[in-house]
Amino acid sequence: MEKIKTIAVTGKGGTGKTVVSTLLIRALSERFPGKVLAIDADSAMSLCYTTGLKVDKTVSNLRTELLGSRHAREQLDAGPTKNLMRTILAHGDGFDLLTMGRPEEPGCFCACNELLRYGIDTLIEDYDYCIVDGEAGPEQLNRRVMKSVDLLLVMADMSARSLQTAAGILEVAKEGENNIDVKQAGLVLNRVRGDEPKDELLKKVGLEVLAELPEDALVNKYDRDSTSLFELPMDSACPTAIREMLKKLIPEF
Ligand SMILES: Nc1ncnc2c1ncn2[C@@H]1O[C@H](COP(=O)(O)OP(=O)(O)O)[C@@H](O)[C@H]1O
Ligand SMILES: [Mg+2]
Repeated sequence: MEKIKTIAVTGKGGTGKTVVSTLLIRALSERFPGKVLAIDADSAMSLCYTTGLKVDKTVSNLRTELLGSRHAREQLDAGPTKNLMRTILAHGDGFDLLTMGRPEEPGCFCACNELLRYGIDTLIEDYDYCIVDGEAGPEQLNRRVMKSVDLLLVMADMSARSLQTAAGILEVAKEGENNIDVKQAGLVLNRVRGDEPKDELLKKVGLEVLAELPEDALVNKYDRDSTSLFELPMDSACPTAIREMLKKLIPEF
């Protein structure tokens, strides 16, 4: 198995991408403090809430500044793009958070987007692990965030529709469409309660499961109360299952 550094979490809305990204960030930064970069690629911006961090600036804000002000462009000339990226990071306990913000307006400022993506690429070099909470499939990741990903986690719950979406994403990942290079991809079943006809459902879509995460009432309660998932007891069911998954995927974990 190739070494896993970048993990992107995708899947249909509401399947648990943000929850799983947050718990991955937390588990990895407890084990490898200072070595973890989190990227919130969801335009709705969720990781700031689930990690309890305050985000002042997004990549989208930076893009607007670069396009609109000479001063910002001069700053860029003065040093590597990643230094500019560093100025918009939020700092958490053992990890840093980069927030993408809103996608660019149609009508492409290609050079600027290329530059920003290059900045992200070089920023990632400074960390051992990078977790991306991505709102859609790999095609959107490729355009805005990164060109290659070591592990694509495709989330689904027990609904047939989320499994179909997952199957579509896994297909795109396999074919290497849209120029994104996905080294390894797998289905993660979330909110498993054990009373569903799981095998039957899975057989229908013909997918194999990389990991199963249990329904965890505490996760849902913390989310409802807008409490950071960093406050969640680590021996709760979902964080425990996330650590088990990481042990399987990352030998050093
Ligand atoms: N394993 C779980 N147990 C209980 N609730 C969960 C679990 N995973 C996700 N949820 C709940 O499902 C909802 C959607 O999760 P979220 O991570 O925001 O999805 P996404 O980012 O894919 O849209 C949230 O209310 C969250 O608390
Ligand atoms: Mg989300």
